[in-house]
Amino acid sequence: MGDNLAFTLVGGGCAAICLGLLIFIIVMLASITVVNEKQQILFILPTTKEVKNGPFTEIVWPHLNHEVRDAVQVELSEYAVLKHERTQELRHVPGPQFVFMGAYETLEGKRTKIVMQKQEYVRLIDKMTGEERVVAGPTTLVPNPLEEYPTGVETAIVIGAQNAVLVYNKTSGLKSLITEAGAFIPAPYEEILSEQQARLLEPLEYAVVKDLLTGEARNEVGPKLLQQGPYEEILATKQKMVLEKDEYLQLLDKKTGTERVLKGPDQVVPGPSEEAPGGGKQKAVFLTDQQAVVVLNRTSGQRRLETTNGVFIPEAYERVLEVRTKYLVLTHQAAVTRDVQGNLREISGADGSDAFFLQPYEELVQMQWSVYQPDSVDPVPKETVTMIDLRSQKMFYNVEVRTSDNVKMRIQGTLFWQVKNVLTMIAMTADPAGDVSQRARSGLIAAVSKATFATFMNEFGNITQQAFAAEATDPFYLSRGVELQSLEMTKYEMVDQETANILQLIIQESTNRINQLQQQESENDVKAAKLVADIELEKQRTSLITTQAANEKLQASLQGQAAGTELVESAVAFIDGLNETISEVTDRTSLYRLHQLLDSRNIDTSNLATGQAQLFLTPSNLNLQLRMANNEL
Ligand SMILES: *[C@@H]1O[C@H](CO)[C@@H](O)[C@H](O)[C@H]1NC(C)=O
Ligand SMILES: *[C@@H]1O[C@H](CO)[C@@H](O)[C@H](O)[C@H]1NC(C)=O
Ligand SMILES: *[C@@H]1O[C@H](CO)[C@@H](O)[C@H](O)[C@H]1NC(C)=O
Ligand SMILES: *[C@@H]1O[C@H](CO)[C@@H](O)[C@H](O)[C@H]1NC(C)=O
Repeated sequence: MGDNLAFTLVGGGCAAICLGLLIFIIVMLASITVVNEKQQILFILPTTKEVKNGPFTEIVWPHLNHEVRDAVQVELSEYAVLKHERTQELRHVPGPQFVFMGAYETLEGKRTKIVMQKQEYVRLIDKMTGEERVVAGPTTLVPNPLEEYPTGVETAIVIGAQNAVLVYNKTSGLKSLITEAGAFIPAPYEEILSEQQARLLEPLEYAVVKDLLTGEARNEVGPKLLQQGPYEEILATKQKMVLEKDEYLQLLDKKTGTERVLKGPDQVVPGPSEEAPGGGKQKAVFLTDQQAVVVLNRTSGQRRLETTNGVFIPEAYERVLEVRTKYLVLTHQAAVTRDVQGNLREISGADGSDAFFLQPYEELVQMQWSVYQPDSVDPVPKETVTMIDLRSQKMFYNVEVRTSDNVKMRIQGTLFWQVKNVLTMIAMTADPAGDVSQRARSGLIAAVSKATFATFMNEFGNITQQAFAAEATDPFYLSRGVELQSLEMTKYEMVDQETANILQLIIQESTNRINQLQQQESENDVKAAKLVADIELEKQRTSLITTQAANEKLQASLQGQAAGTELVESAVAFIDGLNETISEVTDRTSLYRLHQLLDSRNIDTSNLATGQAQLFLTPSNLNLQLRMANNEL
């Protein structure tokens, strides 16, 4: 159409017109613009902007302010971000395509699309509205212009048998636990707080779980897989208690104060608020004839002694305070018990051995007795005595004394004493052994201090005896229910070295003298022995002679008796025969004597005549002769 006009002008005018025409044509030809299919022309008009997308060919007059621009090439994995100049609004254009921008649009850039695999997701948050959406893979995603995804592409949590996901619902403000198996992708406005593993409770375990909303605790008993709830806390996992046959467990509920007792064999799970006051399981007590228990009943506050034979397990509200064994009192022993009022009771074995349990509120009276060993020096060690020995007891003493002439000595010895009255003793003293020892020693010191050293040396046995005699009658012992039975000195030694040396010399001298004496004595002994032997010999000889003499005497006596009998016969015949003639018996006897005398004179004379014997006449014989001559003849 323009061409037709140009040729008409060429035909009508000439040079100027033709020139003008020519210029016009040149301009026109130069203004022919060819826009391909990937281009557009942006016309920038005084008041507005316009675009015309290719492909086309057009004359664009030079006075028109315009711009040919390429379409934006967006790849498959990309999207273009276009910005509107006037509204500043953004527009996302996903690839793949050539994007013709709008008249007011500029290219902000090309971005990579969000690529998500199968178990991936992205949380998109609108900057303007705060609105959230969650898009899960597999997909590629072009976010809306105002959407952000600050956490990027996230992987879903795969929930299996052992794990769970704790989520927070931002709308409701509540937490919840997702345990459903599978890949977990949170919903919009849902935040994952944590992934948590379940806790395996073994068959012998249990867990104490606290509900944080109610404050209540509960037990979860194994074997199980424990998943802690959103508002729960596992306070502890503990071992179940296994009670054997002779074991028991006392459980006190701290909330209610009630108690229960569980007896074995059993498996025990204490309640969440229960506690074992005894510190766990306890062994039952076997009660026998020799063993009993003191039990406190916490309902009544009373104690009792349980002696029933068998296995003893306390009831609820009972406590085993003490296991008591029986005290055996032998025949030589005594024991004393004290009750709460302080009353003493004596259990004596004197009437046969005895055995007893202490009653709940009783105790055995304990005493501390001094123990004196041969070398002990005060203060001596003490021993605890509960069973009092009623036998006579030995004690050693070791004491320093001074004689009246001031010689210092250490004397040692033993003393025997015996408990006579147990209750009196306990009432008076806690250490009878100490008392007896002190008293007896002071008595001994007093006795020694009255004697001189010489006296002491000569009769120390007597001094001890005197001291004992004085002590034995001392009411001190009686008032303590004991008796001092003997006091003996076994050794004395000098304390001063000088005295000891002198004593040593004296002893040596005495020993020498004793030795000499011994020597003399043994010589004398030899002599004496010889004498004794001689005497014995002589005695035997005497005995021989005596026996011989006795035999001869016996023989002679027998002969004599025969002759005597003969003589008597003849004398009787002679004397009695004259009874008629001479009446007086004395006269007849005199006559017989004369007859006999004459007989004997005749024998003497015949002996003289026949033997070599010589006759000596003594005056008495002469007297006799003379008197006979005068009176008798
Ligand atoms: C979050 O709580 C709201 C309000 O109670 C509820 O409507 C929504 O379903 C909950 N979201 C999920 C994922 O449970
Ligand atoms: C403890 O004492 C209470 C009150 O006296 C009594 O009822 C209860 O039986 C006693 N318990 C036992 C085990 O004896
Ligand atoms: C022992 O003492 C007694 C009483 O003092 C006394 O009579 C006696 O003679 C003494 N014995 C000796 C051997 O000294
Ligand atoms: C003398 O003894 C004879 C005989 O024995 C006797 O018979 C006689 O009577 C005695 N004469 C006198 C006086 O006793």
